[in-house]
Amino acid sequence: MNKKLLPSAIALGISLSLPATAATMFRDTINVERTPAPVSQTHWQDNKAEMDAFIDGLIAKMTLKEKIGQLDLQSGFRNVTGPFINDEYEAQIRSGQVGAIFNAYGADFGRALQKLAVEETRLGIPLIVGHDIIHGHKTIFPQSIGEAATWDLEAAKLSAQVAAKEAAADGIMWTFAPMADLVRDPRWGRVSESAGEDVFLSTAMAVARVEGFQGDDLAATDTVMATAKHFVGYGLAQAGRDYHTTDVSEHELWTTQMPPFKAMVDAGVATFMTAFNDLNGVPATGSQFLLTDVLRDQWGFEGFVVTDYTAINELVPHGYARDDKHAAEIAFNAGADMDMVGQLYTGYLAELVAEGKVSEEKIDQSVRTILEMKWRLGLFEDPYRYNDEARAAREILNADNLEAARDVARKSFVLLKNDNQTLPLKQDEIDSIALIGPLADSKFDMIGNWAAAGDRKDQPVTVLEGLKARFGRDVKINYAQGATYAYINDKATIEASQGIGVPRIEEGHRSLARDMKRAISAAKKSDVIVMVMGEEQRMSGEASSRVELTLPGNQQAVMEELKKLGKPMVLVVMSGRPNDLRWADENVDAILHAWYPGTMGGHAIADVLSGDYSPSGKLPMTFPRSVGQVPIFYNQKNTGRPFDANNPNQRQEHYKSRYDDSPNTPLYAFGHGLSYTEFHYGELTLSSETLTPDGELHVSVNVSNVGDYAGEEVIQLYTRQHVGSITRPVKELKGFQKVHFESGESKTISFTLTPEDLAFYRAGMRWGTEAGEFDLFIGTASDQVQKATFTLID
Ligand code: BGC
Repeated sequence: MNKKLLPSAIALGISLSLPATAATMFRDTINVERTPAPVSQTHWQDNKAEMDAFIDGLIAKMTLKEKIGQLDLQSGFRNVTGPFINDEYEAQIRSGQVGAIFNAYGADFGRALQKLAVEETRLGIPLIVGHDIIHGHKTIFPQSIGEAATWDLEAAKLSAQVAAKEAAADGIMWTFAPMADLVRDPRWGRVSESAGEDVFLSTAMAVARVEGFQGDDLAATDTVMATAKHFVGYGLAQAGRDYHTTDVSEHELWTTQMPPFKAMVDAGVATFMTAFNDLNGVPATGSQFLLTDVLRDQWGFEGFVVTDYTAINELVPHGYARDDKHAAEIAFNAGADMDMVGQLYTGYLAELVAEGKVSEEKIDQSVRTILEMKWRLGLFEDPYRYNDEARAAREILNADNLEAARDVARKSFVLLKNDNQTLPLKQDEIDSIALIGPLADSKFDMIGNWAAAGDRKDQPVTVLEGLKARFGRDVKINYAQGATYAYINDKATIEASQGIGVPRIEEGHRSLARDMKRAISAAKKSDVIVMVMGEEQRMSGEASSRVELTLPGNQQAVMEELKKLGKPMVLVVMSGRPNDLRWADENVDAILHAWYPGTMGGHAIADVLSGDYSPSGKLPMTFPRSVGQVPIFYNQKNTGRPFDANNPNQRQEHYKSRYDDSPNTPLYAFGHGLSYTEFHYGELTLSSETLTPDGELHVSVNVSNVGDYAGEEVIQLYTRQHVGSITRPVKELKGFQKVHFESGESKTISFTLTPEDLAFYRAGMRWGTEAGEFDLFIGTASDQVQKATFTLID
């Protein structure tokens, strides 16, 4: 196999602080005493006394109005991400009323704004400049859910490092990432920004990203401050509708939502962002419990808290504040240090201090956390250190970054199905490929949503370009767009529009028919059909929820017509969420999920379709059969009437937890993902049948690559405790390792479990273990595992 090795994180000397099983990841979120972990920047630790003295002096000089100005975050005009825009921000910076700005990248643009703060305000306090650098700044890596599908922490860290390097030369020193909201509802558009449904994987990814963005010195000119967002519960929006309410039990909140955030505090994340949602009756942005009791007092967070976009103002429609002024009082007293866009702190905090509703000491505390970060970023030494055109020219979109983006992209693709070894395409057997679909040659969609300053016109490599580059003259590519993914062509939309007689729709029908014909004729003259279908990139991301998970537009109809030709069919899906792929699963020979693969996506897809790289991604989120199964996730509870599809006496199964019109099982399970090669798992070996309170259990399995290709496998470890004072899920991911195997190679893969790995929130929310019987599973997917048992003893 012609496997080109691209620069990997290991080659770049990146190390990660997470072990294969992260025993400490979930500990002590509620009851256990702990020493607060300081923000891990060597720079400021060495100079803490000097920093304190400097900031004391500065605060002593500041008027109340100047202090409140530091608590204000304004949006510039680039990539605006919300409803409200303030064209006064330059004047406000000059008057010392802005502490930070975002949506304002560009070394020169940032410098001009910084100059206003440094040279034209009384105290010359520099601005923090932020941006949503989610999966790349200009070199765009795969959408976050795709990065999670790599199950490769080094890849996630590398992506964040490259993003930080590019951004920190281009005027930015703060990113609003990682998003660590745990998600279970693919209707919610922001699943694309998440690491999926599992708390262990999400936590590991969040920590890797914080490490990648921040490095170990915030003042370095290749790092940026990270933001743990959205705190908390946003990912459980009811019915998958964005900004909707979250109502979650205390147990669930602490078991699945809190751990990634706690782990990011321990990893030294510099800032936190509040969530938009109402959490159990209290909007997160006004929650003293979350922002002060948990975050500061229990977890010892020392950075600053920024609200989400106008989230303080939204306390009014939430029905939690009477008016804007009341909202400012609630949010500030709850612990929100910085107001994003809403301008309620600058509008009302001074009055609230005069009325005794907010204390100036508390304002001083918030100002201090923000000034400390400015110090740690090195802004008081040199406010222009992140505005360096020469460095930007060197860093942005350089060859190493592009190669890294290509490597991470190909690692993120998940081979969902591959009958008759349809993939990889056999160059010696085919002369032509029909390439069909609205995403086959769409530069605009390649980089997905939240793609920061990524270019959508020229830079992205499409699948058409990637295949042409890979196959050259050897294989003819017959391209036809063939179908549309636009909602306007959905049957229901067309019918609704016909009611008011829109001729454009009829013309639309005619042009769809023409496109389909072109696709059929391209397919007729080709040996194999490769369809690149899915969702337009704007269908996921913020404010992009859907009620259907089917492929939009007439894509399905076109696939059905192509199927009639009886040729081998490959579907490459580009989408930010799990879709309903039932038809494709039954009718198409091979399906590769490519998420939104980023700037180098077309090359990465060609690497995989051609067999230069064997797919190694695994699903970070369950793919349902239909939207009716949502929420569906692998680590569910068993119920009192679990359904057994294998019971020969199906009458016995009638009054069981099941659907009349669908199997319970998903279409593709969490952790699923095929390879071109074949991995054989030997028997599990346990070092003991028991695990003692101070002991360790060593588990090993021999894994062999018995296929013809070199490839990577993600070996997954799950446990299940049979009985608990709180019922336990049927499986919980406790460890994974992504390992490379040459063809014919065997390796012994070992995991170590300690009682800490088996701890949970027991009855009464007491964190700890309970003695008892456990199943231990190791395998290639959550639904394809081998089982052993052991006992945890007191
Ligand atoms: C989003 C955040 C984002 C912010 C700034 C909000 O609408 O919810 O995730 O960081 O905008 O762009």
